Amino acid sequence: MRFTPPHHVANAAVRRSTYPPSLTPILSQAALARARRTIEAWPGYERTPLVRLPHLAQRSGLGAVWYKDEGSRFGLKSFKALGGAYAVQELLARLGLPPGEVTVTCATDGNHGRSVAWGAQRFGCRCRIYIHATVSEGRKRAIEAFGAEVVRTPGNYDDSVRQAATDAAQNGWHVVSDTSYPGYTDIPKDVMAGYMLMAEEAFDALPEPPTHIAVQGGVGGVAAAVLATSWLRWGAARPRFVVVEPERAACIAPSLAAGERRAAAGDLDTLMAGLACGEVSLLAWDVLHAGCDDALVIDDQAAVTVMRDLANPAGDDPALVAGESATCGLAGILAAAERPDLATALRLDRSSRVLVFGTEGDTDEALYQELVGRTAEEVLAA
Ligand SMILES: Cc1ncc(COP(=O)(O)O)c(C=O)c1O
Repeated sequence: MRFTPPHHVANAAVRRSTYPPSLTPILSQAALARARRTIEAWPGYERTPLVRLPHLAQRSGLGAVWYKDEGSRFGLKSFKALGGAYAVQELLARLGLPPGEVTVTCATDGNHGRSVAWGAQRFGCRCRIYIHATVSEGRKRAIEAFGAEVVRTPGNYDDSVRQAATDAAQNGWHVVSDTSYPGYTDIPKDVMAGYMLMAEEAFDALPEPPTHIAVQGGVGGVAAAVLATSWLRWGAARPRFVVVEPERAACIAPSLAAGERRAAAGDLDTLMAGLACGEVSLLAWDVLHAGCDDALVIDDQAAVTVMRDLANPAGDDPALVAGESATCGLAGILAAAERPDLATALRLDRSSRVLVFGTEGDTDEALYQELVGRTAEEVLAA
């Protein structure tokens, strides 16, 4: 199933109940509390800013737009710092082995591998990271800077996931993946629990609950984590939840349309590198199938336009540095708000208070400069 953007899918299976007990083994208040306690104790922990964008909201016919800016998270420039590194720490605690005897590994399109490598360095274990053919040299170097060995494999992200799993099984390494599949669910749960902290920080900082939350989807891990955190907090009165994906790597939208997991029909060749995933994570699917109200599919240009708009703000909006996977959620909401049929379907109007997550800063500095025309420093200095 390939959609023409902007495209909307309504989830026919969505439940408007309190948080279903069947989801508690995946994501829970207890998992969030543990992740919060642990991560808040890491040196250098700071809450990332929650920024209001009044001009953008006004221009788009919305009541308010709130943007959680993850560009400064632990110096890694993306929310992913919360997931992979936390999962490494939890894994080491479970194994009870001297960290020097443990090797962690994963496949990545950049940000997750950076987090696992950072965690491995921090907690003292060895690390081997797999990247696929189109991951940039800049991203590769950023992972190597944390002492990891980085291996480039042929094919796309899903091929690199399979290669990491095969090599780990042969060598006794531990896969710390952000996606789950049959028989592999414990570690991705920890990764998602780490992400829940980002959502909780945003909810704590909001003056009133949002009416809508939009999150971009790769394998769906962060979307599921934000949705679960909102559901646990607000119960049946939770905000409408929207997942937004690139047309060339949309796997959640076709899955929601079909009522079961479906792989992306696109070639995964999207500029939004962090979202170039062809299969929904097994655990994320259970959460999204139960609670995601809508899926939107957008094209790369829509995301780039929003990157430039955030870098060149008008009115009282501050300048923001958003990488190419950061703006998808916001771009989806803005595209829907502009189209009367989609605005009606999603109930977007002047009373809407929308929360979005700017999930990364300029994690690929050269690409950011090419797309926006200036460096992150220049954007912020202006
Ligand atoms: C910046 C950024 N945003 C969003 C995502 C999507 O996260 P997930 O794969 O959990 O859906 C990623 C994934 O790598 C990412 O790097």
